[in-house]
Amino acid sequence: MIILGIETTCDETGAAILEGDPSLRSGRIHILSNVLASSALLQAKYGGVIPEQAAREQIKVIIPVIEEALQQAKLRPSDLDAIAVTHGPGLIGSLLVGVEAAKTLSLVWNKPLIAVNHLVGHFYANWIGKDVPVFPCIGLLVSGGHTDLVLFKDHGKYQYLGGTRDDAAGECFDKCARLLGLPYPGGPKISKLAQKGNPKAFDLPRPMIDSPDFDFSFSGLKTAVANLIHTSEVRKSSYTSEVKRNLAASIEVAIVDVLVKKTILAAQKFRVKQIMVAGGVASNQKLVNDLRFKIKDLRMNVQLYVPPPSLCTDNGAMIAAAAFFQKPIKDPLKLQADPNLALAY
Ligand code: KG4
Ligand code: ZN
Repeated sequence: MIILGIETTCDETGAAILEGDPSLRSGRIHILSNVLASSALLQAKYGGVIPEQAAREQIKVIIPVIEEALQQAKLRPSDLDAIAVTHGPGLIGSLLVGVEAAKTLSLVWNKPLIAVNHLVGHFYANWIGKDVPVFPCIGLLVSGGHTDLVLFKDHGKYQYLGGTRDDAAGECFDKCARLLGLPYPGGPKISKLAQKGNPKAFDLPRPMIDSPDFDFSFSGLKTAVANLIHTSEVRKSSYTSEVKRNLAASIEVAIVDVLVKKTILAAQKFRVKQIMVAGGVASNQKLVNDLRFKIKDLRMNVQLYVPPPSLCTDNGAMIAAAAFFQKPIKDPLKLQADPNLALAY
């Protein structure tokens, strides 16, 4: 089967074409093309995503991005077996661009339409390639908008275990980066600075790290960083690049410690042999290294799956990958974008 995946939940416009065999549990899915247009330069200029601006950019690029995906895959629309699109959650203006484009193409090209939840899509970046997770499996989704722990029992069968009560992990990275004067998106910048910093320099809080549930809270960490920056220790006069590097390292380790603790706890409680990570923050090397270290240290018989960095952040390929394991919707023209779409379970 050949599926075109369309992704427009936030500032990215993604279209990708993937080939796979949905009759196999692994899907044996590979990428034929994966095209992404980002308005990141605009976001860096304004310090974040301005929803209306993001949607305006997406209207301009959605058709060229889809055409480019077909061209790179050396395919015609008639070669496609289905079209997949993210219908939520996300920014309503951005979602509408992708959903309406997908509905129109489904009608014009006479192709089935598959509606994919963006959060589920992130996890399915792990199903691209040869070595894929098997069920049951714990999934940690860490992105700019979400921090969720999910137990995957099978394709389409998952149980939400917990999530953030306030800021998402990526949001916390971005907000702390802003406090450090770093441009958006701040996660990768904090991570780079942290490599040369001392993670023990500042004792930052690890909210909810010892709570027995699978919930998270990151807004207190951001507040602690804001307070620290205004204390004498880190006051402007002493706010050297060394202090900045140490703060970045201390922020990163505080976020990672909580994510690792709860993910390991979930894997132990549900006795799974597989953990998968997904979302933009999954490209954080410390998170992946620390998870790997903990699994080894505790002698857990657990395999860890993490997509390559290009498939961690938003893209069309993960949406097409998820679609291999879903049924098309009966009436494509009735599909509605849903900015608050939850993980159905
Ligand atoms: O999944 P994604 O592209 O978009 C959402 O669906 O939200 O995730 C974007 C988030 C941003 O908050 C960004 O700062 C964060 O992922 N991020 C990182 C890294 N790369 C991206 N955070 C920490 N370390 C990284 N290396
Ligand atoms: Zn995302």
